[in-house]
Amino acid sequence: MSALLTVQNMKTDIGQYKVLHDVSFAVPEEGVFVLLGRNGAGKTTTLRSIMGLWQPSPGSVLFRGTDITGLHTADIARLGIAYVPEDMGIFGGLTVAENLVLATATGVPDDTRLGRIFELFPAIEKFWSRPARALSGGQKQMLAVARAIIEPRALILIDEPTKGLAPAIIDAMADAFAEVAATTPILLVEQNFHFARRLGRNVAVIEDGQVVHQGTMADFTADRDLQERLLSLSA
Ligand SMILES: Nc1ncnc2c1ncn2[C@@H]1O[C@H](COP(=O)(O)OP(=O)(O)O)[C@@H](O)[C@H]1O
Ligand SMILES: [Mg+2]
Repeated sequence: MSALLTVQNMKTDIGQYKVLHDVSFAVPEEGVFVLLGRNGAGKTTTLRSIMGLWQPSPGSVLFRGTDITGLHTADIARLGIAYVPEDMGIFGGLTVAENLVLATATGVPDDTRLGRIFELFPAIEKFWSRPARALSGGQKQMLAVARAIIEPRALILIDEPTKGLAPAIIDAMADAFAEVAATTPILLVEQNFHFARRLGRNVAVIEDGQVVHQGTMADFTADRDLQERLLSLSA
């Protein structure tokens, strides 16, 4: 399968700090691609570099074969790349409804898509008129993903959606993400291997700003020594 998004030899400095040294991977046109790595490995910096929030130099990001390196973030978003950041980017003082409306280009959510979002995340409908700050951590994360899919997208980048959530909520989230991924490809950044392995077909592991492993999730899941070495965990 050809790649939807290709990151090639990306290096990113933040001020005087060299954060990414050599990041390359290719996100296929379907399913979930997982970027795993320990805390501080460079996962968020990679997503921010793809979105044009940091400038990689050198390095390039190709989207559908076109070089998008150096484009403004708004132009990258307009290509259909949605970004759910680590802090989720929702507005606590606005209602759930207002948060969704603000994520549309037209100011009017499409009824069919909204219906699908209500099926995927019933809490969105239930708390429709409540301020987003009243939602639990898991519900806020679901609102963040709902904002990403309120309009058709070509690709969704999601940064550590399970952080700080209880296992039961993480299970429900995995099911919902699998449904989202059936129509929209996802680049999922995670530290939580148990969550990621349920969703991802392909995986890259980043360590100290470099991709140190890339392959299928099936192979990675079978190789406990590799997991232990790269993530300090046993599956
Ligand atoms: N704004 C920043 N200024 C300086 N250093 C940063 C900044 N953001 C991230 N870093 C450093 O870059 C490294 C990678 O960070 P990050 O991409 O956030 O890792 P991850 O998301 O994998 O936890 C860390 O060592 C972090 O301290
Ligand atoms: Mg991070």
